[in-house]
Amino acid sequence: MAVQTAETATNPTVDLGPAAALSCRECGHRVPLGPVFACEECFGPLEIAYDFSGYDTEELRKRIESGPANIWRYAPLLPVPSDVADKPNINPGWTKLVKADNLARELGVTGGLYVKDDSGNPTHSFKDRVVAQALEAARAFGFTTLSCSSTGNLAGAVGAAAARAGFRSCVFIPHDLEQGKVVMAAVYGGELIGIEGNYDDVNRFCSELIGDPAGEGWGFVNVNLRPYYAEGSKTLAYEICEQLGWRLPDQLVVPIASGSQLTKIDKGLRELIGLGLVEDRPYRIFGAQAEGCSPVSVAYKAGHDVVRPQKPNTIAKSLAIGNPADGPYVLDIARRTGGAVEDVTDEQVVDAIKLLARTEGIFAETAGGVTVGVTKKLIDSGLLDPSLTTVVLNTGDGLKTLDAVAGTGLTATIRPNLDSFREAGLAS
Ligand SMILES: Cc1ncc(COP(=O)(O)O)c(C=O)c1O
Ligand SMILES: [Zn+2]
Repeated sequence: MAVQTAETATNPTVDLGPAAALSCRECGHRVPLGPVFACEECFGPLEIAYDFSGYDTEELRKRIESGPANIWRYAPLLPVPSDVADKPNINPGWTKLVKADNLARELGVTGGLYVKDDSGNPTHSFKDRVVAQALEAARAFGFTTLSCSSTGNLAGAVGAAAARAGFRSCVFIPHDLEQGKVVMAAVYGGELIGIEGNYDDVNRFCSELIGDPAGEGWGFVNVNLRPYYAEGSKTLAYEICEQLGWRLPDQLVVPIASGSQLTKIDKGLRELIGLGLVEDRPYRIFGAQAEGCSPVSVAYKAGHDVVRPQKPNTIAKSLAIGNPADGPYVLDIARRTGGAVEDVTDEQVVDAIKLLARTEGIFAETAGGVTVGVTKKLIDSGLLDPSLTTVVLNTGDGLKTLDAVAGTGLTATIRPNLDSFREAGLAS
C-alpha cells in the first residue's frame, strides 16, 4: 500500500506539466496523479499518461534547442512543472555522446559507434536523471523525506538531490556495497542504512516500511514515486536523438537491473516519433546483463515471457537485481524491436572496462563494462549489425568501482634519474 495524503492522491490540480494521469500498463485503468505505483484493479504498474496535444513539432524543437543544457530542456515532455528549471535540483543530463571511432575499429563497427557517457552527471551515474524527476513529484505531493532502496548509485543521487533541495534523506543499501558507492552516498549528510541482505531483501524491507506508520510522509523514489522517477530515463533517448541531429540510432545497448531504464528509453523514442521530432524508422534495443545476475537474459534465450528470479553473484553490483520488476517488458521490447538480451562474465566485464578506457579514455563502472562487453559479444555472434549506427550506454563512473580493476597499477618503479629510466626500458 502506498503512502498518500487525501489531498494529493485525488487532486487533479497537481501541476506536473503535461502529465495528465497515471495509467496501468496492464489494463489501462487511469487514476489521478498521486504517490501510487500499482493499479487498484489488477496490481499492474502505473505509468504517466501525457497530454501532448497542442504541441507544434517545429515550435517544440526550437523550445527544446533553446532550453538549458540539462534534462529540463525536455520539460514539455516530462512530469514536471513548467518552471522546474528555477527550482533547486541537481540539474543532470546533457552528457556527452562520444563518437567512439577507436573502439569501433577494435570491434569492427563500420556504421558509427557512440558511447552515451552518463558518468558525467552530478553524482556520476544516470540515476541523477530519475531522482531529479522523483524530487519534483515529492515536492508536488508535499513529502519532506526522500528515500530509496539502492544498489549504490541511486543512494548517492538521492543524497545529493535531497541535500540541494533541503529534504531529509534516509536511504537503504545492501551492507556490503563497494566502498566508493558507500562514501558517495554518505558524504551528502543524509542517513544511510546498510541492510544485512541483498538488494531484493532491501527492496522488500522498503515495501514494508511504506505500508507502516514509520514511513509515513516519505517519498521512496523507486517505490511510491516510481511512475515519476522512471520517466527520467526517457531523457537518455531524447538526448541521444537530439545529439545525433534529431535522428534515431539503429541500435542501442542498454544495461538492465530492474529493466526500468530500458523500457523508458523505448518509451522516449516512441514519443519522439509520435511528436514528429524524428523520422519513423526501425530501431533495435539490446539489453545487457552480467552472467552472475542474468534473469532477463536467461528468460530471453529460453524464449520465456516471464523472468525467473536469481540470487545475484557478480562484480556488477549496480545491476544486481535478481527479481527485476520490468523484466517481462524488457523481453517484449527486445523481441518487438529485433534486439536481444545477452550477458557477459565478470572477466569479460573487466576486459571491457579496460578496452573502453584504452580506446576512448572513458573509465566506466562495471555497468559500462557490461554494456561494452555485451556489444562485443553480440557483434561476434552476429546479433548486432556492425554496419548500423550503434549507441552503447555507459551509465556510471569507474571511480565508483575501483576494485573491479584493482590489478591495474604502476608500469614500473624507478629511481629519479635517467639511467634508471633507461634500465627500465622506458626510453623512446
Ligand atoms: C550504473 C547503473 N546502470 C544501469 C542501471 C539499471 O537501471 P534499471 O534498474 O533502470 O534497469 C543501474 C541501476 O541501479 C545502475 O546503477
Ligand atoms: Zn490495471
